[in-house]
Amino acid sequence: MNIQPIGIFDSGFGGLSVWKEIKQILPHESMYYYADSINCPYGARSDKEITYFCEIIVEKLLAQGAKAIVVACNTATASAIAYLRKYYADIPFIGMEPAIKPAAHKTKTGKIGVLATQGTLNADTFHNTRKRFASHVQVFTQIGYGLVEAVENQTMHSPETIHLLEQYLGYMLANEVDQIVLGCTHYPFLLPQMQAIVGTQASFINPAIAVARHTRELLLQHDLLNETKEKPTYSFETSGDIAKLLHFVETQLA
Ligand code: DGL
Repeated sequence: MNIQPIGIFDSGFGGLSVWKEIKQILPHESMYYYADSINCPYGARSDKEITYFCEIIVEKLLAQGAKAIVVACNTATASAIAYLRKYYADIPFIGMEPAIKPAAHKTKTGKIGVLATQGTLNADTFHNTRKRFASHVQVFTQIGYGLVEAVENQTMHSPETIHLLEQYLGYMLANEVDQIVLGCTHYPFLLPQMQAIVGTQASFINPAIAVARHTRELLLQHDLLNETKEKPTYSFETSGDIAKLLHFVETQLA
């Protein structure tokens, strides 16, 4: 029984792809979303710098009464979640990492693709997960240069963005990949364009639904679910332009 919000954050708008799934799975929960758009993208930044940003954001979310925090960013999870869990030991944290395990399980060609940021693909956590769950398949990784920016600037349909997607996905298809993991929370906002390129040759795996389910389990475990009749509230904050964030919410999450 707890009406405090779930805190959710990302380097920018990408985490809203996770927000959307949490809203579906936990319709009675309030949420407070923070987009660190001024520092976006995180992808090529150091762990130290990302951890510093994350700590500032976590403080803001806690000041809003967050009862649990979803790090809705693969890059921030890889760089900072261990630190956050250690220094905010009383707060449940939910992180994200590329869904290699289900992809390795589903593939029929024995070849999977992972599209993610530089930070995520270089992280130890990624290498460990790959070794643990995908050592029996071939993994083709691709850094999604320019894709986070395309989502932040809402140029998802521009010829430049389509060209980048054709390049990245073309590399995977040329290698007979049949499962493509979306390893960055910004990428689900490009899904229709990606599906148009790939057709029936490959399927995409978006870990957001699994993260939303995990959030529900964790709230249940900690007895933090809102079981009151209070209507949930949804708040948004950003280090960047709030009008741009709200416009994104209205147009992309409707
Ligand atoms: N949405 C973030 C992720 O999942 C993007 C990171 C970035 O800002 O480069 O990794």
